[in-house]
Amino acid sequence: MRVADALRQMMIRENPLEKILKYLRNQAGNKKERAKSFMYFMQVIKHYNLLDALVRHVTRIKEISFHSNEIAWFVCLVLIFHVKQEAISSLHDALVKRRSVDHEVPQMTLDLLDEIFPVTPSWQYIHELILSVNLKTFLVAFPHPDSFALQFAHPTFFIDKMLQLVSEKRLIRLMQEHLEDRRFFIHARDATSLKELIAWLNVKNFTYQPDRDIPRLLQVLNEPGWKQAIASHPLNSCGKIALVDKASVMVVEMLDPRAGDTILDLCAAPFMKTSISFWHMGQHGRIIANDVNSSRIQAALDGMATIPRHSIHWLNSDARCMSSFYRGGEPDKILLDVPCTGSGSFMIHPRLKWVQSSRFLQQNVVLQQSILADVIKTCKENHWKETKILYANCSYYADEGEGVMDKIMPSIELIDLHDYQINQTRGLRVSSGWKGFKCSSKVARTFPDLHDGCQAFFMALFKVPVETP
Ligand SMILES: C[S@@+](CC[C@H](N)C(=O)[O-])C[C@H]1O[C@@H](n2cnc3c(N)ncnc32)[C@H](O)[C@@H]1O
Repeated sequence: MRVADALRQMMIRENPLEKILKYLRNQAGNKKERAKSFMYFMQVIKHYNLLDALVRHVTRIKEISFHSNEIAWFVCLVLIFHVKQEAISSLHDALVKRRSVDHEVPQMTLDLLDEIFPVTPSWQYIHELILSVNLKTFLVAFPHPDSFALQFAHPTFFIDKMLQLVSEKRLIRLMQEHLEDRRFFIHARDATSLKELIAWLNVKNFTYQPDRDIPRLLQVLNEPGWKQAIASHPLNSCGKIALVDKASVMVVEMLDPRAGDTILDLCAAPFMKTSISFWHMGQHGRIIANDVNSSRIQAALDGMATIPRHSIHWLNSDARCMSSFYRGGEPDKILLDVPCTGSGSFMIHPRLKWVQSSRFLQQNVVLQQSILADVIKTCKENHWKETKILYANCSYYADEGEGVMDKIMPSIELIDLHDYQINQTRGLRVSSGWKGFKCSSKVARTFPDLHDGCQAFFMALFKVPVETP
């Protein structure tokens, strides 16, 4: 459960964690309430370090003492208290923009507080103290970039790395994007499904707009009830539409799956891009989807309606030894949507903010390099000179993108993704790579502030030149 993972990462453990989870589990029968609880926790996680600092500040001034993990779960509850049921973004308004918000506490939050926090000093008292803090004065006391890190609730590791790549102004824009609610896109499998979808959205009065880059993609405004309505809609259950992230669709556009292709998707779970590729090719072609993590494969397969299971060849192996498990002949395309720090996906997975570190980054780079090394070796050994390989990940850091590509440049032939688009006449709006690398002008990046709030992705397309035997 994503909430449990996130709370553990925030050092909320043992008794309080169990109580919060029990409370959520007890609501399992009521999907609507569970979804609301999840949104509360997402807000908590997005703003965690600012709120943690505020709670520690007011409790220190008033000499209120807690056991250490009580502070952590108390933070969590205070946050929940700040967030109104109907307007989940009001936490940000209250804390950062200092707009007045309605402090009426939803009944569900009161129940949760009574269940978990029946001790003094009362949460109402701490809440009042927090509201009385002047945020501007509070933040000035911290040195740069700590003040930045608190104000926008991002780790200093991320801020330091990003300031090597972008101006302070742009970084603020990106961090603000991450604090916004997730943007939702619906992808329709074909023109008929799109027509049906639009007719239904109109009847329901849900607000949407066609995407400016990708046909059959609609952005839907996050209005109450629409997500449940989509999830239970027959178009969704029979795999004719899917909720997607725009960047994932852009990655598949760059891969350009076509009828008759053999595509090897080496890091595939939870199969978002596999499904989109399948839609491009229909039953005319072959997709081999592999992932090292069997529980991720199983969990994704259980909830997947977009592809008939028998249409894909499923594998459960380590991509670092592709040469030892793949026996399927020369693939037309290989997708390497590799594991990464996830620094480009904070809007959707805010918990990843709290695991960013140079050690975590280094671990990912090593893994990415080993996967690439084995794929290149396999192409060479098998003389697969026509296979196109798309390397992608959702990280801003150049170490996981341009840095990795520059290292393998002597063994590959990099395809210019910007030319590639023109050739395809699709004209996808993507940015070039970070400046200062050999590959910069040929690789592509997406950013939430430039590409409709989508995840930040890195993409590079290449072939492996093979000597004629
Ligand atoms: C970014 S996710 C892939 C997302 C997926 N392509 C999609 O669009 O839904 C990276 C995946 O790589 C898998 N992975 C990590 N290490 C791997 C390895 N050595 N070999 C194969 N898969 C690996 C992870 O289990 C994870 O599911």
